[in-house]
Amino acid sequence: MSGTRPGPYRTDMCGSLTAADAGREVRLAGWVHRRRDMGGVVFLDLRDREGLVQVVARPDGVGAAYEVARRLRGEFVVTVSGTVSLRPAGTVNPNLNTGEVEVVAESIEILAEAAVPPLQIDEHAGVGEETRLRYRYLDLRRPEMQAILWLRHRVISAIRAHYDAEGFIDVETPMLTKSTPEGARDFLVPSRLEPGRFFALPQSPQLFKQLLMVAGTDRYYQIVRCFRDEDPRADRQPDFTQLDVEMSFVDEEGVRVVTETMLAAVFQAAHGVTLSLPLPQLAYDDAMECYGTDKPDLRFGLEMIDLGLVFATSGVQVFRRALDAGGAAKGLLVPGWAARGFGRKELDELTKVARAYGAGGLAWIVFDAAAEGGVSSPLAKFLSPEDVEALAKATGAGDGDLVLVVSDRRAVANRALGEVRLALADLLSLRPALEPSDPAAWKLLWVTDMPLVEWNETERRWDPVHHPFTAPRPEDEALLESDPGSVKARAYDVVMNGWELGGGSIRIHRPDLQRRVFSLIGIDDERAEQRFGWFVKALDYGAPPHGGIAFGIDRMVALLAGKDNIRDVIAFPKTSSFTDLLTGAPDAVDESQLKELHLRVVPDPS
Ligand code: AMO
Repeated sequence: MSGTRPGPYRTDMCGSLTAADAGREVRLAGWVHRRRDMGGVVFLDLRDREGLVQVVARPDGVGAAYEVARRLRGEFVVTVSGTVSLRPAGTVNPNLNTGEVEVVAESIEILAEAAVPPLQIDEHAGVGEETRLRYRYLDLRRPEMQAILWLRHRVISAIRAHYDAEGFIDVETPMLTKSTPEGARDFLVPSRLEPGRFFALPQSPQLFKQLLMVAGTDRYYQIVRCFRDEDPRADRQPDFTQLDVEMSFVDEEGVRVVTETMLAAVFQAAHGVTLSLPLPQLAYDDAMECYGTDKPDLRFGLEMIDLGLVFATSGVQVFRRALDAGGAAKGLLVPGWAARGFGRKELDELTKVARAYGAGGLAWIVFDAAAEGGVSSPLAKFLSPEDVEALAKATGAGDGDLVLVVSDRRAVANRALGEVRLALADLLSLRPALEPSDPAAWKLLWVTDMPLVEWNETERRWDPVHHPFTAPRPEDEALLESDPGSVKARAYDVVMNGWELGGGSIRIHRPDLQRRVFSLIGIDDERAEQRFGWFVKALDYGAPPHGGIAFGIDRMVALLAGKDNIRDVIAFPKTSSFTDLLTGAPDAVDESQLKELHLRVVPDPS
């Protein structure tokens, strides 16, 4: 970045001055980061976007700089004119880019005074998050936050450059629209001109990007705000940013190639890391069986092992009952458990995790050559020497190793043990501290071959796993009515370090198939017409085969920045309860505004 900034307030940026500038007359502008009055000499650290530089004001100096400098306080905005000079030997600050120089001030002008800030503008200051969000504009002055804004900017620029070069066109889609089903609640906006009617804010531009393919746009991308009224989580905000992409006349491979090269460009721009392509692919069923989740964290192993054969004939009745009923027994091997000095407390904690995710319990078996029967476990008395041997063989367990087992319905066993796997990763510190420039720090993969629909027991209906516009595999189309649960979707997700970063699919482009899928998920013709008629009609006019993907930009940047909450990489985010502390939104509105909209707020009866 160039350090010069000609203009009325400055000739150079504070953070860009080096020894090569010594002797130059400069004018700088910025915030007083720190002021030290050293009995006769005032030292200022002057800060701008590019960093800090030391300014010295001496009583015997030229001009009135010293008098003004003595009146300055932290965060005053000033412009300083002076001469760059090399710092005297022994006073060089190697921790500062500008540490070899200082600016000897001739004049200082106060451009704005500042109240005492409620938080220290310092990289390492531990400030409560509430204060940071309430005074976000001060929080953003911190170098760490500035670096995040820059990182986000570099990522977005790389994405744009990539898709521009690949012939994609950036098209904006409406913010005031009709409901787009992505599985969350809509944010609604009342219409003043049509009382009683509402716009929905888009959960994604899904249907518009498909219409752009019908319109012949061929390759589209957009970096776009999306709105979902969901329960808060670390990786969710009610308004968030997507990279949204759609392409015509492609199959999964076409989407994969353009997407992977985009990811490679992002990693190069963010951290100078060269991603190794192609990314690995894992089928959904295998992900569930090995890791108990469709977004596995592959930075560590701990793969789940199927112990159905071991326990089908063992003396452990609870396991046998689950297996006889068509369930599963899944295990995790934790090598070297005994040597770590863990005990009942940790096992109880892990059991709590398994229970929280629906399992009846978590069985533990520590291989212990000194114990009777070779294992120490609450199940020891039910395990024959053959059972112990079979278990050791199936898991590879040796002396001092732990095997954890959940036996339940297959889906429950996978999910619960998958969560235990993550809890173990914390307990055993298996997730390394982030080294952004190390390619091994980033475990990206595709998860493919998801089911098209899943059974919703509460509502007693089939729900789409992705969204209702995702195409089934052609060879499974015949099963749509007879065996919907076995139909695979032409869908894919990109997962990184245990987070779902993006997801997409090849779409349905034939109206007859679209209607069949609607009917499968319980949207009858009349409702389909009312909700999506405007969209399905377009398919009647010749839609090209098409597919695409969308990424969560906030998630992408959070991971790249080593943050575990996307709030940290959004300039003006909502809190964990989805309120905006800075503006006070959401807020009550005037009665007159409600009246205009023909709305009345009914007090909460509770
Ligand atoms: P999906 O619903 O999977 O797909 O969303 C795509 C990506 O958007 C991000 N994301 C979020 N990020 C922050 N806060 C949220 N509340 C939030 N919800 C989603 C995730 C997710 O992977 N239209 C389809 C894409 C397609 O089929 O092309 C869609 O929106 O990173």
